[in-house]
Amino acid sequence: MTPLAERLVRRIAATGPMTMAEVMAECLLDPVHGYYTTRDPLGRAGDFITAPEISQMFGELVGLALADAWDRQGRPGDVVLAELGPGRGTLMADALRSMAAAGLRPRPHLVEASPALRAVQARTLAAHDPVWLDDVAALPDAPLLLIANEFFDALPVRQFLRDGPGWRERQVGVQDGALVFGLGGRLPVPDLEHRLADTRDGDMVETCAPARTMVAEIAGRLARRGGAALIIDYGDVGTTGDTLQALRAHRKEGPLESPGEADLTAHVDFGPLAEAARAAGARPEGPVPQGVFLETLGITARAQALAARAPEQAGTIAAAHRRLTHPEEMGSLFKVLGLTPPDAPAIAGTRPMAP
Ligand SMILES: C[S@@+](CC[C@H](N)C(=O)[O-])C[C@H]1O[C@@H](n2cnc3c(N)ncnc32)[C@H](O)[C@@H]1O
Repeated sequence: MTPLAERLVRRIAATGPMTMAEVMAECLLDPVHGYYTTRDPLGRAGDFITAPEISQMFGELVGLALADAWDRQGRPGDVVLAELGPGRGTLMADALRSMAAAGLRPRPHLVEASPALRAVQARTLAAHDPVWLDDVAALPDAPLLLIANEFFDALPVRQFLRDGPGWRERQVGVQDGALVFGLGGRLPVPDLEHRLADTRDGDMVETCAPARTMVAEIAGRLARRGGAALIIDYGDVGTTGDTLQALRAHRKEGPLESPGEADLTAHVDFGPLAEAARAAGARPEGPVPQGVFLETLGITARAQALAARAPEQAGTIAAAHRRLTHPEEMGSLFKVLGLTPPDAPAIAGTRPMAP
């Protein structure tokens, strides 16, 4: 049993079952035993790999899309560039390079909870004098360009099982000294009223209140001050089912198997995020599949240019291009949601194509 599992067992024995969101928050961000707080989990030697770690093309194109949005909104001089959960800082470094080529040189603001990853970001972005923040609400009040890649999938979700006109929440309890899943009593859940129409008894749905709160904060800023935000993650609109996944050394395992030592994620339901953005005064566009987004922004031409400059790496570049865009790889599962003020043009690549 991991040290965090032992602590959770003691806590549950003393105070009763915990919600999945409470367990997920402890597993990922506990100051002593949390998965993100204690390590750099990215890359081939770690537990998983993300799009910016696959190829520089990803961050470059994200940077260009945001620089283009900034240009089309009249190039505000006091613009703030922010990233939520910047990992190793790779995406930000690649985006800053392509932004500079477009005449935009903002100071990066990094919303990061992990001291271990803040240290890695400090090395990657040393030349750009980054600022670290604990929360989006602490960002300066200014026009905002914001990136979040594989951030929202790390926010704690609550899980509910449909039971007639109500819902039973999935909980974590203790049996024979080990952590086990259980179910709470049947309750009405106002946040899930709209899901009564498209679910049946026994279906599971997930909610993520912190994600909606953060998107509302970002959207309010975009509506007031201008700018653009790109939220990129794996998920869909109106997700149903248990999407909680634990990953360790690139292999799936049970979410209660090694608390604090495996990555825990849940698919992002983009529907409530788009709703929260609209309610806060911004215009959501998409979500579009990542492959469509990157192809619209010219990833094929960029891959060809890189391969022409380094022919010995042509195979690696072609493989990265395929991995990022192909529907059987990251191209369909990952989606891109764009947010802008209602009167601004949509961010390039985020408008769904006509059927
Ligand atoms: C899956 S990694 C993605 C890293 C990076 N965006 C990439 O694409 O490589 C998730 C990131 O979000 C951070 N994170 C997770 N929960 C957070 C929270 N509540 N507040 C701030 N950062 C958080 C993690 O420490 C990590 O940097």
